[in-house]
Amino acid sequence: MLDQLQKHLDQVAEFTPENAAAVEEFRIQYLGKKGVLAALFADFKNIPNDQKKEYGQKLNELKERCAEKIEGFKSQASGQSAKLGSLGDLTRPGYPLPMGAIHPISEVKNRIVEIFSRIGFNVSEGPEMEDDWHNFTALNLPEYHPARDMQDTFFLQTDPDWMLRTHTSSVQVRYMETHQPPIRTISPGRVYRNEAISARSHCFFHQIEGLYIDKNVSFADLKQTLAYFTNALFGTSKIRMRPSYFPFTEPSAEVDVYWGLETETDYKMTKGTGWLEIMGCGMVDPEVLKNCGIDPEEYSGFAFGMGIDRIALLLHQISDIRLLSENDLRFLEQFQPRF
Ligand code: DAH
Repeated sequence: MLDQLQKHLDQVAEFTPENAAAVEEFRIQYLGKKGVLAALFADFKNIPNDQKKEYGQKLNELKERCAEKIEGFKSQASGQSAKLGSLGDLTRPGYPLPMGAIHPISEVKNRIVEIFSRIGFNVSEGPEMEDDWHNFTALNLPEYHPARDMQDTFFLQTDPDWMLRTHTSSVQVRYMETHQPPIRTISPGRVYRNEAISARSHCFFHQIEGLYIDKNVSFADLKQTLAYFTNALFGTSKIRMRPSYFPFTEPSAEVDVYWGLETETDYKMTKGTGWLEIMGCGMVDPEVLKNCGIDPEEYSGFAFGMGIDRIALLLHQISDIRLLSENDLRFLEQFQPRF
């Protein structure tokens, strides 16, 4: 028995582990529940009384040596990693870098801006807090005009002459006041209306306004420009213009693009007609030109306005407009670019 103990002591003294796995194996072999030490301790009762003292001492010594070996390896290993410095092991594979995503509204807005920039439109912007003149009066919507009711307005409590703009048409006014024709500009931005929030409408959304003023601009130019645009964005120039009314354009029209009726979603989105309404447009009313300091005898022009959110929902087949402003990462991450 004592011989056997001595043999183990010699083995432990010789053991030089190569790696952490070998140390773990060693630990289990000696110190594990069913390991060598447990067995030797269990044998203690079978040792003849006159050998018990020596056996006990050697057994404790073996236990200590085992613990020392393991400790020794551990401190050597941590010394090594300390030597690598703050950068750690430079050969390790890197952490994946999460890619940001472009919000669907920005993405669609950028596409529209790019399409119009190709035919000479620049980008202009105006304030979201607007006065009565720029949002309504200059656009042929004087006080008490019934069409004001079409746009449920958030007025500023402190001053009813100020409001959150209800459309980006206000930027038309600002642009014409500060620039003389030829004018070719589009104005993207956020607008606000006091509407109940639902899957289909929100109290704020985004529009892009377009304005083209020059000599001899005609309705045919408007139609051709819009056909070019729908072809670039939706892949079709099949559009129709339905007569409509806006106080700031005469004549006015609403534009539908032919979306198709191939899938069930197409049926739902187009209410079974295949046509989608995408914008309002018309020839700028001479009265509006006059209000903004442009001579209607000399110049004419067209304007149009479309909602970005609705187009983003269509192009990405998103069913609820509220998702666009909830900042839910599970939604936003789906728009990460794929490589
Ligand atoms: N401002 C209109 C709206 O918010 C959209 C619009 C219609 C803009 C016709 C225009 C236009 O420039 O000519 O509903």
